[in-house]
Amino acid sequence: MPLFIKNKKSVTLDERLTHIAFIMDGNGRWATSRGLPREQGHRAGAKAFQTVAQYCEKLALRAMTVYAFSTENWKRPTREVEAIMDLLEEYIDSCEEELKDHSVQFHFIGDRAPLRASLKTKMDRLEETTRENRMVLNIAVNYGARAELCRAFETLRSNGTSISEQSICEALFTAHSGDPDMIVRTGGDLRISNFLLWQAAYAELYFTDKLWPDFGPSDVDAAIHEFYSRQRRYGGV
Ligand code: FPP
Repeated sequence: MPLFIKNKKSVTLDERLTHIAFIMDGNGRWATSRGLPREQGHRAGAKAFQTVAQYCEKLALRAMTVYAFSTENWKRPTREVEAIMDLLEEYIDSCEEELKDHSVQFHFIGDRAPLRASLKTKMDRLEETTRENRMVLNIAVNYGARAELCRAFETLRSNGTSISEQSICEALFTAHSGDPDMIVRTGGDLRISNFLLWQAAYAELYFTDKLWPDFGPSDVDAAIHEFYSRQRRYGGV
């Protein structure tokens, strides 16, 4: 059993919960409801992400995955797309300045080819300098699960590798971190939106109406409490 500290403010996790994935939805609505441009919602969302990532690091999670930009998000106005890319660059810059304070091993999952060159360079460098660190943090950028599966099958086909569950897992972007035990989606919608479709096979799904910029450590705790209240049978009895 996980240890719940008496004021319920902090939790200790066990082997059943080592990897949480987040669909960070609701930034736009958060901004619009305040009369702000959507870009401000993403800025607030980036801040919430940093708080949640630091909290997950403190909880000693083994891995965390976030959906920062999907293959479908290119349909948004250029200004909004650019704002998200700027936030990613700013975030990487800030991580490089504070590297010694963190134990995070960064991975950017998704197809980097269409991203701007300066962002790709920063992604490569941050991955390289943090590869010995403890907690895996996967940031999905230009990620789509169907595209990921097509890419994996194509890799296996061109290498002449036979198809098995294991060979597919090893050809996915998440080969280094495995499957999430729980997927949390903020913003009230009850869907997966092309995120980790293969990896979600046995994940517990947790949905909350909270908008991502309002989501914080106490909400992570609530999701964890819910996770431990569920029975996971993996098809058994
Ligand atoms: C979904 O909310 C959110 C996104 C498409 C972008 C998420 C990006 C961030 C949280 C910032 C990324 C930065 C870092 C550093 C990881 P939405 O815009 O679809 O919200 P809505 O449903 O209310 O319109």
